[in-house]
Amino acid sequence: MKKTKFLALLLLIGVFASACGQNQETIQPVSEEGKAAETENVIEQNEPTPVTEKDNNILIAYFSRYGNTDYPEDVDATTSASIVADSENFGTTEYVARMIQETTGGDLHLIETVTPYTADFEELRDVNHNEMAEGFLPELKESNLDMSEYDTVFIGYPIWATDVPQAVLSFLNQYDLSGKTVVPFCTHDGYGAGSSYTSIQEASHVDSVQEGIAIEAQDVPEAADMVQEWLSRIHIGSADTADAEETNAGEANADEVNAETEDLQIQIVADDEIMEGVLYNSPLAEEFKEKLPITVSMVGYGGREYYGGIDFTPTNAEGGQLNFENGDITYCSTNNTMAIFYAQTDRPNLTMEVIPIGKVTSDLAVFDTFSGNKEITFQVAK
Ligand SMILES: Cc1cc2nc3c(=O)[nH]c(=O)nc-3n(C[C@H](O)[C@H](O)[C@H](O)COP(=O)(O)O)c2cc1C
Repeated sequence: MKKTKFLALLLLIGVFASACGQNQETIQPVSEEGKAAETENVIEQNEPTPVTEKDNNILIAYFSRYGNTDYPEDVDATTSASIVADSENFGTTEYVARMIQETTGGDLHLIETVTPYTADFEELRDVNHNEMAEGFLPELKESNLDMSEYDTVFIGYPIWATDVPQAVLSFLNQYDLSGKTVVPFCTHDGYGAGSSYTSIQEASHVDSVQEGIAIEAQDVPEAADMVQEWLSRIHIGSADTADAEETNAGEANADEVNAETEDLQIQIVADDEIMEGVLYNSPLAEEFKEKLPITVSMVGYGGREYYGGIDFTPTNAEGGQLNFENGDITYCSTNNTMAIFYAQTDRPNLTMEVIPIGKVTSDLAVFDTFSGNKEITFQVAK
């Protein structure tokens, strides 16, 4: 069950320096077909969320190093950096894919390249850099996947050089996802989702992707609750899936939103830019909803966030975390500020705890065009 973590990461999109070399991949791939044939819980979870009638319209496509790597035969699973060993061995991202499957009942699909990748980390890092630099799309194994059967497509992958592996782009290039709900999820070694959500969105040719989840590899074995909370927040695999889809289609009036079951759709306005987002259904977020519209004088910090002080003091500020996902709208009780996080950098850890209260769901690239101070207004979506 133990995962080994990389010690360092590349700068910009360049070098991924890591201690992974001390844990070179070690085991033989297990046949995907063999594993898919298992129907009972491979991964134990608490109280799975009820599966809805939409379960058979959900695809969980994922890429993992395991299943795509030429591992030597005489190696030992316990020293692998890309394996979660449970009753059997799984790729890290594959393990999360299976958690999602247990809740949603969707179909699993391994994205598999014709040519396996090397088991040697240093070599793989170079191969990946070259593939990225050349925009090379590796050929995928043939499959009988019929994309027209699915409305919701999860795309899972390990972060490679702060982005998606090129094989995932091959997959998105091969299938037409327009009109579908696209949901990214990824695993990483501590540096977050990088620019992968934007890459997924662009390669899927959809206007926006659902809020993704990025799980640090060492947390994957115990991530079942986190995954369930995320699925419940994005209303997939739970009884309110249909309601959420109506909201996404703009059919629900934000004023009529049932605060007990749905996030509140909001707009985040800065100059001429109007972004879309949500405020969650937490007691803290409720306090912000009551104050809408809120205008906050925000300033950019560290190439990753815009933050600014608010003129009221919320009372439900419990908990907090020292990391963030791109798009997070957060409250920090230490200095009574709100922030919008838009990019992971080489400084992924925060010095003050923040509490997520919502999320920007539209393209975050707009923040890269901002400079200096911004008056940013949070308002109920029109
Ligand atoms: C070539 C390569 C590049 C990687 N780049 C990053 C990175 O930029 N940031 C990061 O946090 N982890 C990085 N990792 C670590 C993987 O994202 C992480 O171990 C992941 O959980 C592996 O998932 P898998 O077992 O499903 O392949 C990299 C791993 C490899 C092999």
